[in-house]
Amino acid sequence: MRIDIVSIFPEYLAALDLSLVGKARVAGLLDLRVHDLRDWTTDRHRTVDDTPFGGGAGMVMRPDVWGQAVDELTATGPAHLVVPTPSGTTFTQRTAEALATEDQLVFACGRYEGIDARVAEHYRAAGHRVSELSIGDYVLNGGEVASLVMVEAVARLLPGVIGNPESLVEESHGAAGLLEYPVYTKPPVWSGLEVPDVLLSGHHAKIRRWRRDRALEKTSARRPDLIAALDTSTLDKYDRAF
Ligand code: 6GU
Repeated sequence: MRIDIVSIFPEYLAALDLSLVGKARVAGLLDLRVHDLRDWTTDRHRTVDDTPFGGGAGMVMRPDVWGQAVDELTATGPAHLVVPTPSGTTFTQRTAEALATEDQLVFACGRYEGIDARVAEHYRAAGHRVSELSIGDYVLNGGEVASLVMVEAVARLLPGVIGNPESLVEESHGAAGLLEYPVYTKPPVWSGLEVPDVLLSGHHAKIRRWRRDRALEKTSARRPDLIAALDTSTLDKYDRAF
């Protein structure tokens, strides 16, 4: 997969050199390029924004500069343009799974009051996919941190990025629709607290049942919305309300 990220603060994206995403890049599993939007300006001051038509506070990012950038980065064919914005639809694990199937993602990181609305409209009309996405109900100063979140969520789903793909199976927000059960490691007693006996029993069916019960219990307490949304065909006959 190729991912291009365009920002006026490319240094924000330096974290993508690290950890799993950094390794995926070095291994050639992910072609990730970070760009400075100002490289596509043509005026002496490298201007990327202007005052909003209709009045109001703040500045809006100019569509002509964004157009030059996105045209160049998508010259080889249609891409999926991702515009992080608090007014977008919510980015979820399902969104990450869908984005992970694309050949090219272009993240357009806005600052100030956002990007002129014609940019999304134009690239949709030109046959690109365009997703305006929010990572949650709070406001960040720009799309950079949201892009970091989305790129990490997508990159770990790419084939070969996670060493043991089984780690992707049981995790929170996976296919079961439940939060993950609590996990424990050595020592068996720490600070007077014992690891639940069943996990030391070697009884795999009992361990599986205990983990599912704890996942149901935790999800009921923390995310009743996920319990309400459960696909009832995924419930087994031993599942109960918590
Ligand atoms: Cl994607 N961008 C900004 N600026 N703020 C946000 C967001 C995105 N998602 C939640 N808050």
